[in-house]
Amino acid sequence: MTPPPPLALREELREQRFRNVWTNDLNEVFADVAPYYDRANTIASLGLWGWFLRSFMSTVDVKPGERVLDVCAGTNAIGIALLERKPTLQVHAIDRSAEMQAVGQQRAKARGFSIGSTIGDVHELPFPDNHFDVVTLQFASRHLRVRRVFQEILRVLKPGGHFHHCDMLRPRSRLVEKSYYVYLRMCLAFTGLLFRSGPAALNCKQYFIHALEMFYSAEELSVVLRELGYVDVTAKTVLYGMLGFHRAVKPLPS
Ligand SMILES: C[S@@+](CC[C@H](N)C(=O)[O-])C[C@H]1O[C@@H](n2cnc3c(N)ncnc32)[C@H](O)[C@@H]1O
Repeated sequence: MTPPPPLALREELREQRFRNVWTNDLNEVFADVAPYYDRANTIASLGLWGWFLRSFMSTVDVKPGERVLDVCAGTNAIGIALLERKPTLQVHAIDRSAEMQAVGQQRAKARGFSIGSTIGDVHELPFPDNHFDVVTLQFASRHLRVRRVFQEILRVLKPGGHFHHCDMLRPRSRLVEKSYYVYLRMCLAFTGLLFRSGPAALNCKQYFIHALEMFYSAEELSVVLRELGYVDVTAKTVLYGMLGFHRAVKPLPS
């Protein structure tokens, strides 16, 4: 386990190290896991998956009728949870994986909800400036050029609009971090066997750990958000910093 590089170099080094996987492998991984993604997460989190979602949702404030964008929406867990709370929201999902979104669309329809869907890469969001009241992003930033995507989110948010972020983060304590990776290795091996993961997902097991090792702590992610121009940045962590919820606001024009 090597310490992560300094913050100023982090994005460049993440990109150098993971560009290949991000460009060539990840989409195949999510196509493979789409049918069992939600079940695998429930098992890997020892049944805490629902609690993770509720904890994140408790930090997201939405008003009736608002326009929400869920970035890297996967199987639409966020969109569905928000619509259950405020059925008049206009929710739009964007994700590169048609397979994850197909499952997400089925899940939304089964609950009587309509969620707009765009299949595409989130490094360039195909939406106008100042368009959304709220943007959410859960469990995907480890696979992204974070600064690029956060900049795009800032662009599409209306002034005063909120960005809500949730992800597994690098814990503060090295001891917790070490145990966490041991546990994750076991989980990935177990769920790989249980759900008979294909070669793409099995080959990326190491990547999932390395992506976390090179990722941000909660404090570092707050710094990145402020450097990009967000204001009122707040962060809450649970499980010794392994999971973090950030809220950041697009400033009003002065
Ligand atoms: C771990 S899943 C998270 C899904 C969902 N947000 C959730 O919380 O369950 C990561 C998602 O990010 C998507 N993704 C990864 N890189 C992407 C990219 N460059 N552009 C768009 N989607 C991407 C994957 O297709 C996948 O659906």
